[in-house]
Amino acid sequence: TVLVVDYGAQYAQLIARRVREASVYSEIVGSNLSVAEIMEKRPAAIILSGGPSSVYEEGAPQIDPALFETGVPILGICYGFQAMAKALGGTVAKTGQREYGRTPLSISNNGCLLGSMPNTLNIWMSHGDSVSKAPPGFQVLARTAGAPVAAFEDKSRRLAGVQWHPEVKHSQWGQQVLEHFLFTIAGLTPDWTAENLVNESIETIRKTVGDRRVLCALSGGVDSAVAAALVQRAIGSQLTCVFVDHGLLREGEADQVKKDFVDVTGVDLVVADERDRFLNALAGVTDPEEKRKIIGREFIRTFEATASSLAGERGIDFLVQGTLYPDVVESGGNGSANIKSHHNVGGLPDDLQFTLIEPLRTMFKDEVRAVGTQLGLPDSLVWRHPFPGPGLGIRIIGEVTAERLDILRQADSIARAELAAARLERDIWQFPVVLLADVRSVGVQGDGRTYGHPIVLRPVTSDDAMTADWAKLPYEVLERISTRITNECPEVNRVVVDITSKPPGTIEWE
Ligand code: XMP
Repeated sequence: TVLVVDYGAQYAQLIARRVREASVYSEIVGSNLSVAEIMEKRPAAIILSGGPSSVYEEGAPQIDPALFETGVPILGICYGFQAMAKALGGTVAKTGQREYGRTPLSISNNGCLLGSMPNTLNIWMSHGDSVSKAPPGFQVLARTAGAPVAAFEDKSRRLAGVQWHPEVKHSQWGQQVLEHFLFTIAGLTPDWTAENLVNESIETIRKTVGDRRVLCALSGGVDSAVAAALVQRAIGSQLTCVFVDHGLLREGEADQVKKDFVDVTGVDLVVADERDRFLNALAGVTDPEEKRKIIGREFIRTFEATASSLAGERGIDFLVQGTLYPDVVESGGNGSANIKSHHNVGGLPDDLQFTLIEPLRTMFKDEVRAVGTQLGLPDSLVWRHPFPGPGLGIRIIGEVTAERLDILRQADSIARAELAAARLERDIWQFPVVLLADVRSVGVQGDGRTYGHPIVLRPVTSDDAMTADWAKLPYEVLERISTRITNECPEVNRVVVDITSKPPGTIEWE
């Protein structure tokens, strides 16, 4: 394991991801751990992350110099680099010259860390103070205008550091800096693969579950599907999956779960067809929050009823959840306690009488996809766009009715089909299609006047759904979608594109 010590910047997760991209397992730990606690985790190498701008700042986290006596290879990045310099007898000066963003770097000596890189490259900086003198025993490798010592290494002690952020994509040769540290300096072997990940998870699940029974709520999304597939691979028929068909699904979605998941894995699936229940509960409701509450409540009732009818005499002890590593880290996990139970299926309540199994707890999204592929799940499932639990219920602006759902389903399926035909699915994050059911506008179709509803296309790009930008789809694709929707969907006589980023708009309209 490579431990990434988090000094409070948002970069620690990114570093851990990049290390895993280099096929080396990596975990994030808090900077409050003592040297003894860190050593208990038996790290093969340690990376000290970026953090607050100044090592001289009041309350800035310090590094115990004893860490450098342990013999574990260590890479310091940004704040970690400065703290390392200070702890080992170098000088960190307030140069007064801040550097942010893209900065040219001059390499004077490639050493191991910057091996085979050109003399100058652009890297991504974010710092106030600078290392002005490297600690004894270290070779200086590079400088920038504002950082006289921008990189150093001590090959014999296997210690190195850089002032910039090699983990961000804007830094040229960034991944190589990390790999040179991991492989050339620390001497690690790249053996962290999806296959290992699958084998380790399966073993852990078998040990935890024994011969008891497990339940999983499938949403049709990639996380719950991969989690369920892993559990199924581990314990077979002791797992039962429940799929709640609330009638707010997209065209062909229930069938797709069957084809892409059940037929592939052979999992035991129970479909709860509760379309009428949800439609009845939503009758007359137009307020978005009200809709979400109703759908959440009905979902839980359905799930509980199904679970208790399945439990029988043997009972069911475990519930599978598709919690990912970023959820664990963001809720203060960092390998310690205090982990929220994150719900990505319709918001199951905390008081359900199950012990949670979270096989994706250590994984990033791209690893979940790799594991899914490793388990034989098809691309159509593994690369699916996120879809909200409340489904089309929050994509009809106005009351949800069966007729309106039919119209939206048809428009949505056209938009998805054309996006797929243009091979643009992986370029965008999500493509909500929204029906403005309470808005009408005048149009002319055939020879007559129409008075129909608009459909809104909301394609967005994003990395994590926290922020998003509207996707600039090619005009020809938009044109085909518009022509087909107005020709094929009754009641729709206008197609508009949402060109709002998030913020200020959210991705969904409700
Ligand atoms: P917003 O609209 O807040 O959406 O920008 C951010 C992301 O979350 C999804 N979303 C949901 N997912 N249950 C879910 O499982 C929900 O209630 C829900 N609401 C929004 C949305 O599709 C986007 O990916």
